[in-house]
Amino acid sequence: MGIPQPAYYIFKCEQSAPPGMPKPSCVNAQTQDIFQHLASTLMREGIMATVQPIRTSCLNRCSEGPVILVEPGHTMYTRLTKEKIDRIVKEHIIGGNVVEEYVINKDVWDEPISPADMKKQMGM
Ligand code: FES
Repeated sequence: MGIPQPAYYIFKCEQSAPPGMPKPSCVNAQTQDIFQHLASTLMREGIMATVQPIRTSCLNRCSEGPVILVEPGHTMYTRLTKEKIDRIVKEHIIGGNVVEEYVINKDVWDEPISPADMKKQMGM
């Protein structure tokens, strides 16, 4: 038997806007320790070996930040706090139930377009 692959990857946007930028970003003084909180929670729960937290740059939903993307499932959670992270880990990552009330609104996160369909739309 080989080394098991992770059951989940959790991508945490770690983009911070430079001072003076009007665009919102996912990391500021109030939210800078959310990734660390996520990692410590996974460690404390003893599931770090099967849940891989990953720092990423912008996930293109900046006005909803701080955001994480949970894969598999394309589940994006928004406006994160440490309390929300605790609930997502407990109910979604361990319990297998998406925390619907924290999921991004469908208006800004609709179904994906396949690359093949995208090429057709672009006339390529
Ligand atoms: S800065 Fe986090 S989604 Fe853009």
